[in-house]
Amino acid sequence: MKPRVLVTRHVYPAAISILQEHCVVDYQDTYDVMDAERLQRRLQHAHGVVCQLTDPLTAAVIQAAPHLKVISQIAVGHDNIDLAAAAARGIVVTNTPGVLTEATADLTFALLLAVARRLPAAEQFLRAGEWKRWDVDLLCGADVAGRTLGLVGFGRIGQAVARRAKGFGMRILFSSRSDGNAAVANELGAMQVPLEMLLKQSDFVSLHVPLRAETRHLIGVEQLCQMKRSAFLINTARGPVVDEAALVAALEENLIAGAGLDVFEHEPQVHPGLLALPNVVLLPHVGSAVTSVRALMCALAASDCAAVLTGERPKHPVAAPGRS
Ligand code: NAP
Ligand code: GLV
Repeated sequence: MKPRVLVTRHVYPAAISILQEHCVVDYQDTYDVMDAERLQRRLQHAHGVVCQLTDPLTAAVIQAAPHLKVISQIAVGHDNIDLAAAAARGIVVTNTPGVLTEATADLTFALLLAVARRLPAAEQFLRAGEWKRWDVDLLCGADVAGRTLGLVGFGRIGQAVARRAKGFGMRILFSSRSDGNAAVANELGAMQVPLEMLLKQSDFVSLHVPLRAETRHLIGVEQLCQMKRSAFLINTARGPVVDEAALVAALEENLIAGAGLDVFEHEPQVHPGLLALPNVVLLPHVGSAVTSVRALMCALAASDCAAVLTGERPKHPVAAPGRS
C-alpha cells in the first residue's frame, strides 16, 4: 500500500508529480492556512506532510498524528515545527536550505539600500506628482559604500550578504556563537566580534539567525539603545528575533535611523506603529520569492518527503534538538 502524504497548501506542481510517483497525495490546493485543529484532523491518516512556515506543527498536532513519519518544510526556517515532539516520535523533519540563500541575500541587500536611500519615499513622491525640479537636498539618504555592516548570524545567508557588502566596500563585522567560519571570514575580510560591539559600531545591523528560544527578542530595548542613532536595522530572519514594540519605540524616539523589515512578530499582522513611520521599509516576507527558487524549494521538500517514505536518506534532514 502506498504511503499517504498531506500537502497542506498550494505548491508548484512539480512537487505533486514527485510525490505521486510513490505516494497517495491529499493536496489542499488552496492558499488557506489550516489552524492546528484542522491540521490535526487532516493528519489522521497521513504518513508524511509537506508543509509551509504558516502551518502550526505543534506538539499537540504531532502527537495526534498516529502514522506520521516525516514532516517536510518548504522553507529553511522551521520554527513552526516542534522538533522535540517530532524527535520523541521518531519523525524525520526536513527543510530546504541553500537553494534560497542567494535570493534572500539579494532581498536583504535590496532592503538595506531601499531604507538607506529612501527609495519608497522617493517613488511615492514622483507618483504623487510632487517632483517639480532637482534640489540639492531633495530626498537625501545615508551612505552605504564604505560603511560598517554588522551581521548577526554568519551562516549561509549571513555570508552571502557579506559577499555583497564586500562589493560595496563595506567593513564587515559578524557575531556568531561558534568560531567555525574563520576561513570564510578571512576571505571576506569579516571580523567576528561580540554582539554588543557589533551593535555599537555598525551603520547597518542585519539579522540572520534562526528563531529559537535563545534568539527570541535577541534585539530588544537594551540592544537597540546600543546601536548608533544613525544606524539602520534590517531583519530578513524571523520577526520574533526583534522585540517589535521596542523597535517601534526606538524608531519613534529616533534612537536609530530606520529599519528594513521583511518579517514581523505576528505575521501577517504588522505593528500599527511601524505602518505609521516614514523611516521604515516593510515587505510581506518575500525573502526567497523568486519563481525558480520557490519551485526548487517545493520540489526539494517533496523529494525529501518521498525519500523518507521509501526508505531512502533525505537530502536535508533537520538535526533533532540537542544534536547538530
Ligand atoms: P544557517 O546557515 O543555519 O545560519 C544561521 C546562523 O545563525 C548559523 O551560522 C548559526 O551559527 C547562527 N546563530 C544561531 N544562533 C545564534 C545566536 N544566538 N547568535 C549569533 N548567531 C547565531 O541558516 P540560513 O540558511 O542562513 O537561514 C537563516 C534564517 O533566515 C532561517 O533560519 C530563516 O528563519 C531565515 N530566512 C528568512 C527568509 C525570508 O524569506 N525572509 C528566507 C530564508 C531564510 P552558530 O550556531 O555558530 O552560532
Ligand atoms: C523563509 O522564511 C524560510 O525560512 O525559508
